[in-house]
Amino acid sequence: MCGIIGYAGRDEAAPVLLDGLERLEYRGYDSAGLALFDRGGALALVRASGKLAALRGRLLEEMEQGLDAHGTVGLGHTRWATHGAPTEPNAHPHRSMRGTYTVVHNGIIENYAVLRRELEGKGVVFASETDTEVIAQLLEQTDTGSPLETLRKALPRLEGSYALGVLYHTDPETVYCARRQSPLLAAKIETDEGTAGTLLASDAAALLPYSREVYRLEDGELGALRADGMRFYGMDGTEHFLQPMVFSRHVTAADKGGYVHFMRKEIDEQPEALRRTLAPLLQKDGLFLGQGEAALRDPDGIRRVLFLGCGSAYHAGLVGAALMEKLTGIPSAAELASEFRGRKPRLDRHCLAVVISQSGETADTLAALRIAKEQGARVLGVVNVEGSSIAQESGCVIPTQAGLEVAVATTKAYSTQLSVLYALATRLAELRGDAGPGFLREFTQALRRLPGQAAAALHTSEGTVRDWAAECQQAQHTYFLGRQLDYCAAAEAALKLKEISYIHAEAYPAGELKHGTISLIEPGTPVLAVCCQPEVAAKTRSNMEEAHARGAALYCITAEGIPHAALAAERRLVLPGTHALLTASLAALPAQLFAYHCAALKKCDIDQPRSLAKSVTVE
Ligand code: G6P
Repeated sequence: MCGIIGYAGRDEAAPVLLDGLERLEYRGYDSAGLALFDRGGALALVRASGKLAALRGRLLEEMEQGLDAHGTVGLGHTRWATHGAPTEPNAHPHRSMRGTYTVVHNGIIENYAVLRRELEGKGVVFASETDTEVIAQLLEQTDTGSPLETLRKALPRLEGSYALGVLYHTDPETVYCARRQSPLLAAKIETDEGTAGTLLASDAAALLPYSREVYRLEDGELGALRADGMRFYGMDGTEHFLQPMVFSRHVTAADKGGYVHFMRKEIDEQPEALRRTLAPLLQKDGLFLGQGEAALRDPDGIRRVLFLGCGSAYHAGLVGAALMEKLTGIPSAAELASEFRGRKPRLDRHCLAVVISQSGETADTLAALRIAKEQGARVLGVVNVEGSSIAQESGCVIPTQAGLEVAVATTKAYSTQLSVLYALATRLAELRGDAGPGFLREFTQALRRLPGQAAAALHTSEGTVRDWAAECQQAQHTYFLGRQLDYCAAAEAALKLKEISYIHAEAYPAGELKHGTISLIEPGTPVLAVCCQPEVAAKTRSNMEEAHARGAALYCITAEGIPHAALAAERRLVLPGTHALLTASLAALPAQLFAYHCAALKKCDIDQPRSLAKSVTVE
């Protein structure tokens, strides 16, 4: 969730920290702050509620009023509130009562209330409502004069998750850090004259502009970063020598490329992202999943397939499960990672767990992955961010090649997840002999055509859905219907709309409508049906009629060749003809555009919707 950046180097820290925060802002954007040692070794602390621009403004103001923020060592943080409203006192960094320790934190301290009571009993006065301040105060109360030793003594008292950046009042040259469950990475800035600085971050996006070599702290590790290098330790004090992960690309600053919003740009990038993702999988002589092949070894031994993810990744899993069962006959299901982890699932080596995540850092998805591994399931990651925790821990990964996705509401990452899942289900069906050569040839060809059809679908649907958006933008409630794969597409379409336009949107399997929800449909209520599957089109059509009879304003996304295209809906969008099993992919595109235009007309903050974050690293 929250973004952490730390710097110890030779250059001015403030611009480096602000630049890092800019790259991390998608992780949370309700308040931000930075702390750095000035040239005299005193701590300068600046925080502001609201977006990063507010922090930049505050820093300038305070410097004009005499604040010395010229220093070369410091920490920055962008927050997504968990404990305490997004006010300035609750913004990080948090300083202990006497200023001994200053802390930024990502994660949740589950026993913070108990610790707070205990510390208050000792006379500690708190300045915020956050769980994080407990850490700063606890460190001060435990202080031995050695920050590393203090961390080793104090951290075992914390329950929950943390990635920490820590400054110590008498050591203005060092950024200390520690990790449990929440991701934390470090990198060196190398020059011809040797190491010129070190960086700490919660996400590789903030480090890759400086170095392709990134060091990942493991749970229970601590570190000390200085301008000339960094050292890591275990909780027992032994030094750990970490091996860097070498990333394949340098990340440049995200650029809107002339678009008003990243989301709109990312919608248009989908055909190319699909092409990039599918290219290595669709080889000349057939499908080949690269690393993913290892998960399919002994294909007849796979008796259950689980798709695990959160948010849109879960919706991708719904498509994956429907398709997997259709093509292979293996019992398959998608599970919300947050629910899955709370049960005691029984898995074994006959279960294939497909773990889907754009960021590769979603806390619940990571926990689900670990459970699947512990239970002996085969694990396959479908991950967009190289080197992320889920990519690392999955062991075997089929990467989605969506590239950097900045808008909080996912578009191109979701589409590429679907494309990988299509390839996966088809390949497994091929290996097991569940699908004949005719089907395989036809389906693989349809997959090859998908990027081009995505481009066509975007082109043909924009005008239509813009009109729909103009009609629906004032709606309070909307309903999305579909059956089977169309329902999966409807679920993602509803999520997109509510995420960015704040219009209440609910998706229903069309047949379920009459079991309650239909009573909510009043004259004029927008109902959008996805009707692209020939097998169920007649039934969906009946459900649309039922909604129509109650006065719903009916909209329909359908596909070429659907016999029941003469649907009750006056507003109809016909997608280019593709293989029926691939229409969920194309239907996502007008749905994204519809959500985008509703949000644009309502003047919503499209790329950073209220209360959301792109990477959800708390449970
Ligand atoms: C957040 C994002 C969603 C995303 C979900 C899962 O809620 O806003 O767009 O689908 O997390 O994220 P992941 O990175 O695991 O795909």
